[in-house]
Amino acid sequence: MWVLGIESSCDEMASAVVRDGWEIVSSEVRGQNDVHSPYGGVVPELASRDHVRVVSEVVGAAVEEAGISLEEFAGVAVTAGPGLVGSLLVGLSFGKALAYRLGIPVVGVHHLAGHLASAELADRELGPPYLGLVASGAHTALFRVESTGPPQRLGETRDDAVGEAFDKVAVLLGLPFPGGPSVAAAAEAGREDAVDFPRPMLSNPGLDFSYSGLKTAVALEAERRGELSQADVQDLAASFQAAAIDVLVARARKALRQEGLRELAVVGGVAANRRLREQLAHWGERDGFRAVFPPVELCTDNAAMIACAGARLLERGEHHGLAFNSFSRVPIDATPWVATDSQ
Ligand code: KG4
Ligand code: ZN
Repeated sequence: MWVLGIESSCDEMASAVVRDGWEIVSSEVRGQNDVHSPYGGVVPELASRDHVRVVSEVVGAAVEEAGISLEEFAGVAVTAGPGLVGSLLVGLSFGKALAYRLGIPVVGVHHLAGHLASAELADRELGPPYLGLVASGAHTALFRVESTGPPQRLGETRDDAVGEAFDKVAVLLGLPFPGGPSVAAAAEAGREDAVDFPRPMLSNPGLDFSYSGLKTAVALEAERRGELSQADVQDLAASFQAAAIDVLVARARKALRQEGLRELAVVGGVAANRRLREQLAHWGERDGFRAVFPPVELCTDNAAMIACAGARLLERGEHHGLAFNSFSRVPIDATPWVATDSQ
């Protein structure tokens, strides 16, 4: 069964072809760093306009690279939310039109269900029940993934996402967009113990996260130092990164203990972070759990994960009508997509 995936929830337009729910036959991702870098963050209106410009080219490239004809597809899987509604609508409208023209079903996929599927795509040994840590620019959440039913949310951020904190700290430190990789690169040369930044929420019960206080602490320290030398930037980046990652690691370890799970899937853009990977590998050995990290190209937004999650739904006969909408915010367990905030 061939499934075409389309993902356009934020600033990447992506399309992929996945066979039998597992095999990535092609995967195209078109970023927009040039469009947004002058602003230090994603500008929604510019993102959707650029998606309109490239959508048919990107989908066409994925299909061509797969070397199959459009008639062979069993279905189209498209991210329907959560995300920037204007961006989502471009991929969703394109996917619906293509499915209509081909007479095949279209299924809307929850973006986080897609991220969780990226770990299963990357590692066939990984199977439910497991803990999923989604750490991206828009989300920081822990899920218990079971073989039946939607993932169960155990905790989430109460304010900023961890990737968002990396992006904002990059702006504060004058580091280039996109912020996560540039803070991580600067941190390599800095001292983690230069500043003892707070580890937010660690003493709180439950499994929620909070990152806005940490970001403010970095802003105050940067302000206190005045003009920042290169060494200051590197030290602040390293100390911030240590605090941000320590919180992810501590929360994941607590959730694994609480839920009695021994496998952890770490997904989303921040899963590319080297310190996070090292720390979880280290604690996995100590605590007796296995941490699965997809390769970097599957951690950041891509359409292979959407095609994979969509294939599971299509196999079960689930699909959506052409009137199906996109949602800026929608819980992962809202099946079949009862929106909390439809646009
Ligand atoms: O999953 P993703 O592509 O988009 C969302 O769905 O949000 O994640 C992008 C986020 C950005 O905030 C980016 O700064 C962060 O992932 N990121 C990183 C690293 N690479 C990307 N954060 C920390 N360390 C990295 N190496
Ligand atoms: Zn994402």
